[in-house]
This record gives sequence, structure tokens and C-alpha cells, in this order.
Amino acid sequence: MTQVKATNIHWHEGDLSRTDRWNALKAKGATIWFTGLSGSGKSTVASAVEQVLVQRGVNAYRLDGDNIRHGLNKNLGFSAEDRAENIRRIGEVAKLFADAGVLALTSFISPYVRDRDLCRKMHVDSGLPFIEVFVDTPLEECEKRDPKGLYKKARAGEIKGFTGIDDPYEAPAHAELVLKTAGRPIDDCVREVLDFLENKGLTA
Ligand code: ADX
Repeated sequence: MTQVKATNIHWHEGDLSRTDRWNALKAKGATIWFTGLSGSGKSTVASAVEQVLVQRGVNAYRLDGDNIRHGLNKNLGFSAEDRAENIRRIGEVAKLFADAGVLALTSFISPYVRDRDLCRKMHVDSGLPFIEVFVDTPLEECEKRDPKGLYKKARAGEIKGFTGIDDPYEAPAHAELVLKTAGRPIDDCVREVLDFLENKGLTA
């Protein structure tokens, strides 16, 4: 649980409403939350979706687990507590992006239902769309891909607490989209996500 240390602080409502901002910028914010095992394809799909959307003039921006851990979250490891804080911070950052009218595409393993639901709640409470995309790639396939060689290291005992090997991954039961990537060309998966977002009116 996050310890609240900030006291004597007051929310300052700005002069510009979200609706006025979005209308003026012809933008619409939302968070698209990709979750799945390491090597499942989250970052690959999110990156391609980002590229297509931006080329179409939609202000999409990707927040990627490995990248964010180089900066904002470089002080967090992979214990359940640190993963929870990692996800809480990204939930808050994505919410700010969405409020600003950006389509925030997050790609984090985010293995715990509780942490993801917290991010969903903070969006819903703020009236912002939250779309969970479960990148549903079986462990065997992720391990076969092993793009960073981390599964090999985890199996050899060189990495402890690796998700899917000796650390849990809690699959979402109610994701808005379940994306199967095994045995499919990446373009197919990208198209499926884009079509889904388009049908939801999020890419207008
Ligand atoms: S999360 O669990 O807190 O959501 P996050 O998505 O930020 O994880 O980072 C996952 C990435 O960190 C993996 O893709 C992998 O490259 C790297 N990594 C290093 N150690 C671990 C570990 N113990 N478990 C999972 N991923 C790890």
C-alpha cells in the first residue's frame, strides 16, 4: 500500500476544462493498457500501433516497461511491492497523458490483477477511458522467442523471480481485448488493435 506523506496540499483546478482542451486540440485521450508475459509482444504491437496512429495525426504515446525503468522507475526492482509501485506510477502518468488528450499506450507485464484494477479505477474515477489489452501469448511461445535471452537466464537460476518461471502472472478475466499473437503475423495483431480502437471511437 502506498504511504501518503503529502499533507497540507490543495487541489488547484485550472482555468481550462478537459472538454475545452480536447475540443481546442481536436484530441481525445484514453489509456490503452497492454499486459502480458515478457516476450508476449506487448511492446512490438504497441510500438507499431503508435507509429500508425501518429502518422494518421492521432497523438499516441507509448510508455514502455523496460524504457521507464531506465528513468522514472529506475529505483524499482521486481518484488511484488516494487512491481505494484511501478504500475501505480505508470497508471498515474498514463492518466495525465490521457487527460491531456493523448492516447497513452502502456506496455508493462503488470502481472497482478490488483495493480491493474487500481489503474483502471483511477481512470474511471477521473472519467477517462481505460482499455485493457491482454496480449495472450503462451509461456512456451514467449520462452521460444526469448528476445532478450532472459528466460534462458531465469531457467538457469541466474535471474530470480522471473514472471512466468518463478513469479506469478495473473491473467485478466475481463480484458476489453484479448490478443492472440502465436502463429500470427505482427501486422494482423496490429490491425486487430487498430480496428478495435477505431470501433470504440478512440482514434477519431
Ligand atoms: S512489471 O512486472 O513491473 O510490470 P515491467 O513491464 O516494468 O514489469 O518490466 C518487465 C521487463 O523487465 C521485462 O520485459 C524484462 O526485460 C525485464 N525483467 C528483468 N527482471 C525481470 C523479472 N524478474 N521479471 C520480469 N521481467 C524482468
